[in-house]
Amino acid sequence: MRHFDYKDGEMFAEDVALREIAENVGTPCYVYSTATFERHYNVFANSFKGIDALVAYSVKANSNIGILATLAKLGAGADVVSGGELQRALTAGIPAKKIVFSGVGKTADEMRAALMAGIRVFNVESLPELYVLNGVAAEMDVKAPIAFRVNPDVTAGGHEKISTGKKENKFGIAWSHAERAYAEAASLDNIEIVGVDVHIGSQIDNLAPFEKAIAKVGDLISRLRANGHTIRSFDIGGGLGIPYGDNSITPPPPDQYGAMVKRLTADMNVEMIFEPGRMISGNAGILLSKVLYVKEGEDRKFLIVDAAMNDLLRPALYDAYHEIEPVKAPGNAYDEVTYDVVGPICESGDTFTKARDLPEMKAGELLVMHSTGAYGAAQASQYNTRPLVPEVLVKNGSYEIIRERPTIADILKTERLPSWL
Ligand code: LLP
Repeated sequence: MRHFDYKDGEMFAEDVALREIAENVGTPCYVYSTATFERHYNVFANSFKGIDALVAYSVKANSNIGILATLAKLGAGADVVSGGELQRALTAGIPAKKIVFSGVGKTADEMRAALMAGIRVFNVESLPELYVLNGVAAEMDVKAPIAFRVNPDVTAGGHEKISTGKKENKFGIAWSHAERAYAEAASLDNIEIVGVDVHIGSQIDNLAPFEKAIAKVGDLISRLRANGHTIRSFDIGGGLGIPYGDNSITPPPPDQYGAMVKRLTADMNVEMIFEPGRMISGNAGILLSKVLYVKEGEDRKFLIVDAAMNDLLRPALYDAYHEIEPVKAPGNAYDEVTYDVVGPICESGDTFTKARDLPEMKAGELLVMHSTGAYGAAQASQYNTRPLVPEVLVKNGSYEIIRERPTIADILKTERLPSWL
């Protein structure tokens, strides 16, 4: 069931015509479907029925508090990687006890805020970080619950820039140092060891790397327990891929992933923690944009649209594919034209796709870029002084703006002329 689909000759998000949103909110803007978020979350969470599991949605994928609150209502926890994301998760009503804190560069202030809130666990990535955390916890006279993020040296991930579980990546404790790190943690007064954590990459298209990582961690858990440590949780990170409409990958469905995890961890006697991001939010959002100009080049046609790489960075950064469709249904017989779809930013990298066959489009017509609910708005910037792209959440026949488009005055308000000018 697609919640962004054609009805009566035009594309809807659930029961709201995208044309109506474009008229009232303006373009470009992101539009999200509550029903899709709910379905993705429930399918994922239900695949772990019967085992002790926490789904800690990876906030970085789509961090709008309207989205976080939607997921909180379904029982989601959160995986955060900064003090800002922590504040978002708490503001959205996610209980601190369901929040895990990941990331290689947590500051002492961020640790303090997380300890103050009483989060479930810090996923610690190095000994220097452990020592700082121990110090902050000592000042506050508390014990910090930790898991080490270990690096299992497993190759996985849809693009070199989003592969994280190999030994050359900056993430995690080197596999060969893991036991020593746990011994060190056990010797510190204000640290409490609670588990083990891994995250091997993103947009992963098959179960094999997960199976490999789980087997390796299972082994490590046995050794750690033999060394006298208490290991209660196993956080397997995020990373399950999604279809982007180009048939380049066919990721395993979440229930197969769930069955695999259940099978491989049956004897581990741990609480499982999951940090899915893309799988929950990727196909729950589209970027709605308008054609500004159709430009004839020497050997190609450019569709110049009002969205740009500052609004959706994925094609420029990862050569990502996003399916593009007109909002007005093309009907049965239509002319197809080959376009390069580009934005207004002064860089050739501001190209969403090259040589894409699309129904013929004219200036003023609307189009959508699909599968942009994850790492779309969250990675947007104001480059070229283009105001941060707004976000709209649809629920059945209603919609509301969940992030406003700033005015240029809002942007300039944060800047100052130096006193010497
Ligand atoms: N946990 C940790 C520790 C992570 O670093 C990530 C993603 C996740 C969970 C969620 O992974 P997911 O389930 O979404 O694959 N901007 C890139 C993706 C970067 C992923 C970074 N880490 C993109 O647009 O493809």
